[in-house]
Amino acid sequence: MRNLLLAIFLLPLTLMAQPNMSDGKLLYEESCAKCHGTEYYQGLGMSEPDSIVELTHWVDTCSSHFNLGWNDQDIEDTAHYLGRKFFELDR
Ligand code: HEC
Repeated sequence: MRNLLLAIFLLPLTLMAQPNMSDGKLLYEESCAKCHGTEYYQGLGMSEPDSIVELTHWVDTCSSHFNLGWNDQDIEDTAHYLGRKFFELDR
């Protein structure tokens, strides 16, 4: 019984923790590509991020700066999408 409750509690958390690449792509193309490009990522002055943590921080910074109202999931999806597509980062 205890394990069952634990499983019910943890399941949504593990689902949430999976970044959604297609959402990330949509979000990026909708809100970021006009400045940063779609064929390749157009860096705008900062050095290339070399970890997902750093990339996530930037996605957070840019999305708050432009008041996009993104939640943590949106930020994570986009960071992982960018990391995989443009920077060969996966963690
Ligand atoms: C209006 C143009 C604009 C939009 C829209 C925009 N950014 Fe940026 N972004 C910039 C500029 C300018 C910088 C450089 C900031 C600096 O040098 O301090 C930057 C920096 C960054 C960086 C750091 C690496 C680099 O390129 O220098 C990342 C990553 C980034 N933005 C991601 C995003 C994401 C994700 C979005 C969509 C939520 C987004 N940006 C939307 C203009 C934009």
